Amino acid sequence: MTQRTVVLIKPDGVEKHIVGEIISRFEKAGLRVVALKMVRLTQQILDVWYAHHKDKPFFPSLSAAMMSTPVVAFILEGDGAIQKVFDICGPTDPAEAAPGTIRKDFGVDKPHNVVHRSDSAEAAQKEIGLLFTKEELF
Ligand code: CMP
Repeated sequence: MTQRTVVLIKPDGVEKHIVGEIISRFEKAGLRVVALKMVRLTQQILDVWYAHHKDKPFFPSLSAAMMSTPVVAFILEGDGAIQKVFDICGPTDPAEAAPGTIRKDFGVDKPHNVVHRSDSAEAAQKEIGLLFTKEELF
């Protein structure tokens, strides 16, 4: 089934100069970039984006880190895109990720895990609506 999913290259990924490397991994897996931009996240966006984490003790530091530099946001489209992107990124904690995944290769710890990816089709829908207009999708 063709799906769309959102990836953010977080501030730690942007600062490591691995934007091209990360996008390349998804493209090599057959996924298509259908929207792409740099954006500075705001607390207003993050309150909705991370609504499920709002009561967690790490939410304030997570928000601060996500707003520290602009992020690279893009939408990937392809067959089974959500699972493919999940597999390419690896789990939240880089220490638990397999070699060859983005988070193992470039991540440090949970707060510095280089990329965000949509957890589900519902999450992807919400995230696309929060960051992209219809005109920005190709
Ligand atoms: P992400 O995929 O963006 O979704 C929520 C983020 O919160 C997650 O990646 C991590 O960067 C961060 N996160 C999740 N759990 C923890 C934790 N226990 N401590 C600090 N940060 C966390």
